[in-house]
Amino acid sequence: MNIAASITPALSVRGEFPAIAGWHYLDSAATAQKPQAVIDAIMRAYDTDYATVHRGVYERSAVMTHSYESARAAVAGFIGAASPNEIVFTRNATEAINLVAQCLPKDGRNRVLVSQLEHHSNIVPWQLAGYELDIVPLTSDGLIDLDAAEAMISDQHRVVAFAHVSNVLGSILDAKRAADIAHSKGALLLLDGCQAAPRIPVNVAAIGCDFYALSAHKLYGPTGIGALWGRADLLDSMPPYQGGGAMIDSVTFERSTFAPPPQRFEAGTPHIVGAVSFHAAIDWINAIGLPAIHAHEVVLVRECRDALSRINSVRLFGPEDSAGIVSFAVEGVHPHDIGTILDDEGVAIRAGHHCAQPLMAALGVPATARASFAAFSDSSDIEALVNGIDKVLRIFGS
Ligand SMILES: Cc1ncc(COP(=O)(O)O)c(C=O)c1O
Repeated sequence: MNIAASITPALSVRGEFPAIAGWHYLDSAATAQKPQAVIDAIMRAYDTDYATVHRGVYERSAVMTHSYESARAAVAGFIGAASPNEIVFTRNATEAINLVAQCLPKDGRNRVLVSQLEHHSNIVPWQLAGYELDIVPLTSDGLIDLDAAEAMISDQHRVVAFAHVSNVLGSILDAKRAADIAHSKGALLLLDGCQAAPRIPVNVAAIGCDFYALSAHKLYGPTGIGALWGRADLLDSMPPYQGGGAMIDSVTFERSTFAPPPQRFEAGTPHIVGAVSFHAAIDWINAIGLPAIHAHEVVLVRECRDALSRINSVRLFGPEDSAGIVSFAVEGVHPHDIGTILDDEGVAIRAGHHCAQPLMAALGVPATARASFAAFSDSSDIEALVNGIDKVLRIFGS
């Protein structure tokens, strides 16, 4: 099948990604590949610019501190935060959610409303923090059922914690309505924005949510850094997450007092180079524009779903208009076998439970195969995927 010949990709940035030359990388939902601009920023930060931040009395440190804080401002701008001080740098989205689960005062409410499609990162932190979970079901096309959420929310819920975009189904949450539902009973809305931030424009003020978690490595940036956005008054009400240098106001052996947010939540030397190259990733995305990236991925999803739905033994999961993510199964073939055969064909997909075991249970499968797209994906990836699945079918005699 020659899909590539029939459709012109809307974006042509593939050449900026050295790691995918000659490879069909369809695992961006796990982690995105990095454009040369980000790789260069990492090199520069370690090579000519490196110094510590916040504590140095020499000029290089002052410059690096400025770069580090500029990165915070860039993240704030990227998601529509009112102030850079509402951005806490974390290791990743997982740590951002753990931070909220551990530090948010419970205020006598011990329940969290999550959905059936959550990543383990938006389930386990709440369990560890001693919350009881109530589970919102999904609609038949894989969206979080907000009518059900509306019926379930009570004044016992401290937090509603939903994925903005599902990492398995690609379904996009009506986040504004989720915020209204949470607030109707005085609960807070935390959005797990891991998959949304690289795929759709996000504006936390317009949504009206209370916390937003994201990871830089899914945003064409480095691993080891992510961000928590929290409303200023909420961050202010929260005690430190970890203790150490940089998060204090004063320390004696009797008593310590703490810095205001965001420093209160950034104990120890931060991921300096991570922040600087996260900024480069945001600049790279902004230069293209998330609306263009989203439109590009919408075309690829449609193309991919159309091609896969023509194969009789393929079952597709999720809504038709998923954001850049297509999960599927091939009748009689374990997803791991699909992944291995595709790997031989130079196509990288994800196969497994995608850290969403409760969702797998709801779908009635142990695992799925997942193809996920990014700005650098194009029709040649889908063509290679479909040809690889043809090979899977030949090998398994389906
Ligand atoms: C929806 C969602 N939430 C949370 C995570 C966790 O991200 P990280 O491992 O970067 O913390 C992921 C990663 O796959 C994800 O897709």
